[in-house]
Amino acid sequence: MTNLLRLACLLTVFAVTAVAGTSEPAPGADTCRDCHKDEKFRVQNKKIYDYWQNWNGSSHDLAGIACVDCHGGDKTKPTQEGAHGGMLLQSNPDSPYNYKNIPKTCGKCHEAVLARFEKSRHFAQLEATGRGPSCITCHGSLDSKVYSSSILERACSNCHNAKSKNHPEVIAQAKAILETLNHANGYRRGMKFYYESTKKPQATAKLDKAYDDVILFWHEFDFKRLGPRSKDLLKELKTLYIEAHKERKDK
Ligand code: HEC
Ligand code: HEC
Ligand code: HEC
Ligand code: HEC
Ligand code: HEC
Repeated sequence: MTNLLRLACLLTVFAVTAVAGTSEPAPGADTCRDCHKDEKFRVQNKKIYDYWQNWNGSSHDLAGIACVDCHGGDKTKPTQEGAHGGMLLQSNPDSPYNYKNIPKTCGKCHEAVLARFEKSRHFAQLEATGRGPSCITCHGSLDSKVYSSSILERACSNCHNAKSKNHPEVIAQAKAILETLNHANGYRRGMKFYYESTKKPQATAKLDKAYDDVILFWHEFDFKRLGPRSKDLLKELKTLYIEAHKERKDK
């Protein structure tokens, strides 16, 4: 045996005893993630694997938000029983991901959005009947992305349709508003880039605030006021964009 190899063996033995000798989990351990991403679930229990895959690489994953933040349980326990201990199934009315409780679970961290959503008719409906659009209707449950306006038909039409006579017009309105907001966001991105290159952090902050205010307001579903507000925002950002363009040319 070469010295190097002997050293490697020694180190391995040392590492194994070190792990076996302590009951403390490694810092940053996340057994939920480790077990759920196991390739075997791809065939055995595809749904389990799919949930992990949705979360993987999401803005939540990148921000360090883990399974336990929305589900509870114990991410330091290696076995399924241990880790799932204390985790309530979705059908349990107290479960954090029982459909009715989802806004509050998301709202633990997104307080400002929840405060607006609580003002909407939808929240009242959700509280009263357990039905209605919730955060995950538009954002997905784990991937926290923002779906495009094409999901609105599916997400809204089972309640808002000609037969139900419950404001069937809101779907077309929602599409138009979302498109206006996307358009405004395009200008915002362009402006951010320009303000950063010309070192104007205050202008960037003002821009973000104007946009965020309207996005927060969206969550109230008060389209009669939101419609005009989203158009004003677009106009404002477009004007800023044109001004910046001129400024750059004059230099
Ligand atoms: C050692 C493997 C393992 C660990 C660790 C583990 N899970 Fe699971 N989990 C599973 C399996 C297998 C299922 C599917 C159970 C079934 O279909 O009966 C499951 C199902 C679930 C479900 C669906 C509800 C249910 O019970 O069927 C949720 C939610 C869940 N796990 C979350 C978590 C969270 C959160 C953690 C960490 C605190 C975690 N899991 C840790 C293997 C694991
Ligand atoms: C941001 C919150 C959030 C995070 C983080 C999150 N989940 Fe979920 N998860 C949910 C919500 C909400 C649902 C319910 C979705 C629905 O009703 O369609 C759900 C559903 C599930 C289900 C299906 C449960 C069932 O009873 O059918 C599984 C399995 C699951 N999650 C596992 C995980 C695992 C594993 C992780 C970490 C890799 C994770 N979740 C991270 C919010 C989250
Ligand atoms: C434990 C805290 C926490 C919980 C619970 C949580 N989030 Fe988040 N969320 C974050 C953080 C941190 C970020 C990333 C930073 C940011 O954009 O604010 C984020 C980002 C987001 C984004 C922005 C994504 C983007 O690309 O801009 C959306 C949408 C979102 N979360 C929706 C949800 C939904 C829906 C739920 C409930 C199912 C939820 N969040 C639960 C902390 C949380
Ligand atoms: C489960 C049923 C349900 C779903 C799904 C649903 N809504 Fe609603 N919505 C309602 C109810 C009930 C009201 C209250 C109607 C009333 O009081 O006249 C309402 C009211 C509204 C209003 C206020 C209308 C007004 O002028 O007062 C808007 C806007 C709205 N919904 C938009 C949407 C959008 C956009 C979606 C899809 C993302 C959606 N809704 C999905 C049930 C639903
Ligand atoms: C009818 C669809 C819909 C519902 C329901 C909904 N959102 Fe949103 N949400 C959006 C849209 C559209 C945006 C703006 C996306 C963008 O900026 O690109 C957004 C943006 C966000 C953001 C990013 C905010 C920011 O300032 O950039 C967060 C966080 C968020 N939503 C969380 C939630 C939470 C939590 C709930 C439930 C209480 C919820 N949303 C319900 C459609 C929805």
